Amino acid sequence: MSRPQTFTHMEALTSLSNNIIITIDGPAASGKSSVGRLLAKKLHFVFVSSGSYYRALAWSALQENIDVSQETNILVWLKTLHLETRMNDGEAHPLINQVDPMNQLFEKKVNVLVSPLAASSAVRNFLLRTLRELALGLNIVMEGRDIGSVVFPETRWKFYLHASDDERIRRRTQEGEDDSILERDRIDSTRQLAPLMIPKGATVIDTTHLGISEVTEKIFTDLKDSQ
Ligand code: DC
Repeated sequence: MSRPQTFTHMEALTSLSNNIIITIDGPAASGKSSVGRLLAKKLHFVFVSSGSYYRALAWSALQENIDVSQETNILVWLKTLHLETRMNDGEAHPLINQVDPMNQLFEKKVNVLVSPLAASSAVRNFLLRTLRELALGLNIVMEGRDIGSVVFPETRWKFYLHASDDERIRRRTQEGEDDSILERDRIDSTRQLAPLMIPKGATVIDTTHLGISEVTEKIFTDLKDSQ
């Protein structure tokens, strides 16, 4: 597959380095996953949706009936949990105790539990380690809520996407999902640990009136100009 012509600077850099990390943060339905996936494909980078790891833990906690209101329960549970990553078509997939829960990660009960669970310090420390280890020696595009601010604060390539509430709700409804995104945003932005914020040095893009390829193109241009 040929690489994009506009991307010669990045190509030159990739040939010199094996650990380029591009971060994309933002609220729910701001376009992070779609843009991140497309960007990673064009660059031949690995795509990581960190939210899928938080969702996989929420799915597992539901399966195991863990009372997540107690931090000690979470700590004990995480000690027994075996989390691995399987690479599939350039994308990182979490496996829990060798099961791939991908098809169940967007179920309503996972949507409801994931933000409260993501506020747990045991969960955040566990996934902070996992996500950093995952990136070792790879060129990646990773999206989430705290990727540019906490997971990889040292990277030069940080983006923050946002869109109006109405537009984000419209996108979720169109996807046929029953997801209270404003409530998740509230929990994700107000928690004590690694809250959703614009990372220092991030390029901010309002995606309200932009399509996926337009946003991806904007990021290309920004990456090219920042060389
Ligand atoms: O990106 P997503 O909507 O699939 O993420 C699901 C939830 O996971 C999100 O509401 C909060 C949590 N999350 C997080 O706390 N930190 C991240 N880096 C990614 C996701």
